[in-house]
Amino acid sequence: MAKRQMSLVGFMQAGSTTVYAGSWRHPATEHGFLDASYYAKLGRTLEEGCFDMMFFDDRLAMPGIYGGSVADAVRLGARPVKLDLSIVLGVCAGATQRIGLGATYSTTYYSPFHVARTFATLDHLSGGRAAWNVVTSVNDSEAQNYGLKEHLAHDARYDRADEFLEATTGLWDTWEDNALVLDRENGYFADPDKVHELNYEGKWFSVRGPLTVPRSPQGRPVLLQAGSSGRGRDFAARWAELIFSGDPDIDIARAHYKDQKESIGAAGRDPASVKMLPMVYTVVGESHAHAEEREQLFLNELVDPKASLTLLSELMNYDFSGLELDSPITDELIESVSGIRGLVQNLRKHIGGDTVTLADLAGHRATLLQGPRFVGTGPEVADQMEEWIETDACDGFVIAATHTPGAYEDVVRLVVPELQRRGVFRDHYTGHTLRETLGLARPGGSLHE
Ligand SMILES: Cc1cc2nc3c(=O)[nH]c(=O)nc-3n(C[C@H](O)[C@H](O)[C@H](O)COP(=O)(O)O)c2cc1C
Repeated sequence: MAKRQMSLVGFMQAGSTTVYAGSWRHPATEHGFLDASYYAKLGRTLEEGCFDMMFFDDRLAMPGIYGGSVADAVRLGARPVKLDLSIVLGVCAGATQRIGLGATYSTTYYSPFHVARTFATLDHLSGGRAAWNVVTSVNDSEAQNYGLKEHLAHDARYDRADEFLEATTGLWDTWEDNALVLDRENGYFADPDKVHELNYEGKWFSVRGPLTVPRSPQGRPVLLQAGSSGRGRDFAARWAELIFSGDPDIDIARAHYKDQKESIGAAGRDPASVKMLPMVYTVVGESHAHAEEREQLFLNELVDPKASLTLLSELMNYDFSGLELDSPITDELIESVSGIRGLVQNLRKHIGGDTVTLADLAGHRATLLQGPRFVGTGPEVADQMEEWIETDACDGFVIAATHTPGAYEDVVRLVVPELQRRGVFRDHYTGHTLRETLGLARPGGSLHE
């Protein structure tokens, strides 16, 4: 019997620093984040390894919650640079042929027409490889760059996001597949009976439409999502076609997988069609000792504790600068956090023990964030990946980098061939569009039937 196949996604950043705060200081990191060639090279590397997708995260502000200032983020390189993703993905589309191209856009600060147009355009220009990571954003710094004082409350964010998705998917459907005629002789460009107004009216948005971009190769770009709260998981169950998760260990991941798949079923969709991919760090070496040496560098030497707290404050929308490092992380403290509360809860559960302190959290933010670390030779890392897949902890992985592009080059050179040899990962792309690569149906039916 054919073995279950895994999906692999590269967790990319269009900026100076990966999710690992020390990445820019890593001796093997290339500082090409302001060069188009750097992103093109990353895309080609991942495509050589047959990755399903390169996905870029985003944040719409410099970290400025910790101590009420951006100074530490700037000085310590705690993700102060974030380039515009539509342009970066355009570069990647031109440099690659098959790999999926995912970008994060916020439903809280953008508008449905803008997002629908951007992703439909990318879907055309990439031959059907676009994906949108739907986020509701996390903190007040982002709000303050968009004319608001405070970030919208959690559930209101998701109410708005539901409407945003109704309007955006509606806009993608305003053009029927065969609306374009292009009949020069009779001067008939497109069939007006096949291009529709949307006339969406909601509490948050009203959008007339139609979109100014014809229906794209995938029908609709693929929808990615990473909600972890109850409301976030319900939203994912309704809309997501690929779910990212942040689960620090295999037990938490298994429980999350089961719960999320059940809620997808309860929402009337096929749970098997929606893949769940946790974030992981891979630290790979030619020998086990070599991998361990690399892990030590990653664990002990490169992250300033203040950089970690800067990023933790940003994710939690909470200024940790007033707390001593040995302060316990209490239930009351977690209740007062308005950012990604589930992340602290999960980390606390994972760290365990009677008292988890701010120093523990900062340490884990530095080197674990939300996912596990797979360390070893290619076969050893492949063993860990297989264990997660075989025990229903996930359907694949979104791989975060300790350094770029080297961490991905290591995975492609040492881990991917091993996965291919074991028959759990593709050795060539069989489809053209990202939907075909992921085994997802095309909304509105196939173009080729
Ligand atoms: C792998 C992964 C990537 C994420 N990328 C982003 C991102 O780029 N921008 C962002 O604002 N949030 C990002 N998030 C956060 C989620 O969108 C979400 O807000 C978070 O998991 C909290 O869930 P909740 O919104 O249900 O509270 C990411 C989460 C994960 C696990």
